[in-house]
Amino acid sequence: EKGGYDWFMRKEIYEQPQAVSDTLLGRFDADRQLTLDEIRIAPAELRSIDKIVIVACGTAYYAGLVAKYAIEHWTRVPCEVEIASEFRYRDPIITPRTLVVTISQSGETADTLMAVRHAREQGAKVIAICNTNGSTIPRESDAVIYTHAGPEIGVASTKGFLTQVTACYLLGLYLAQVRGTKFGDEIATIMAELETMPAKIQQVLDGTEDLHALARELHQVPSVLFLGRHVGYPVALEGALKLKEIAYLHAEGFPAGELKHGPIALVEEGIPVFVVVPPQGRDQLHDKVISNIQEVRARGARTIVLVEEGDAEVEPYADKLIRLPKASTLLQPLLATVPLQIFACEVATLLGHDVDQPRNLAKSVTVE
Ligand code: F6R
Repeated sequence: EKGGYDWFMRKEIYEQPQAVSDTLLGRFDADRQLTLDEIRIAPAELRSIDKIVIVACGTAYYAGLVAKYAIEHWTRVPCEVEIASEFRYRDPIITPRTLVVTISQSGETADTLMAVRHAREQGAKVIAICNTNGSTIPRESDAVIYTHAGPEIGVASTKGFLTQVTACYLLGLYLAQVRGTKFGDEIATIMAELETMPAKIQQVLDGTEDLHALARELHQVPSVLFLGRHVGYPVALEGALKLKEIAYLHAEGFPAGELKHGPIALVEEGIPVFVVVPPQGRDQLHDKVISNIQEVRARGARTIVLVEEGDAEVEPYADKLIRLPKASTLLQPLLATVPLQIFACEVATLLGHDVDQPRNLAKSVTVE
């Protein structure tokens, strides 16, 4: 069943090129129009929305955080992202012109389901991004985009995350198409890059043998930090969550620019700090992140740097480099997350934990 892998989680990590490619399948037709047939919400209605609110839990929430950057950039519609269990209890401002997007792998998460019900009671339209056909959340929503990742059995979500980000991007591009905030050729360019991602994810998977050695080196540390900026920030949060969930290691993700406002006090001799570096040249944040790496290294951190191939600037400050294929900033999370998933899986395996069934966790959380 595990197809020769030791864990379902590892199998699912290696399925990600196929999973992302299945999410993208058939969405971009011959006359280069993005078609999301499942969206049974009239274009006129999609043109009238004035706010997008993404609601989800855990890893799906982090996928939403990534998506916010792309959706706002492409549609110019304000987009908020909220943890589902916090959403309905604060009397959120939801109107018939709000588009609520829920993200859930299982489609059964009670916190997210309650948010769907609350949003619809306020007259909002709800689009579900979901992996499980016929599950409760899509049934109770106005429309659904299925991620088509195939069953995810490992409790820690992996291909769930990558396909959720991909589906959110499809939705963002579709809204941009309907609302006219991006021209057809711009959408085609982004779609073309999205279609290159499965092969690049495969390239990342093919180059990860040395993560085993890294896990060997680090599996007994008391604490690990993850830093990123822009879309790299939710990647940092996701890297930390994977370590907590399956390796039971204390791990935290921060926006790299926030370090100096407090968390840098945690940095002491030998603490591993993973840093996601935005693409060089095309990105103003690149140099700022390099300075952040220097700052933690000067205080004794052991820096593990995820950086685009060909970027040599960071080399002097990296104790370990993890090379990523080139991609535009918004698409980099589809690559940068993968080594962090593998690292967590390796550490948990070395520590002798049940990677697929971590303690205290269930695959779908059907209580509020
Ligand atoms: C993380 C994880 C959880 C889920 C969260 C939402 O690896 O598995 O954080 O992402 O419970 O679950 P779904 O997506 O099923 O709503």
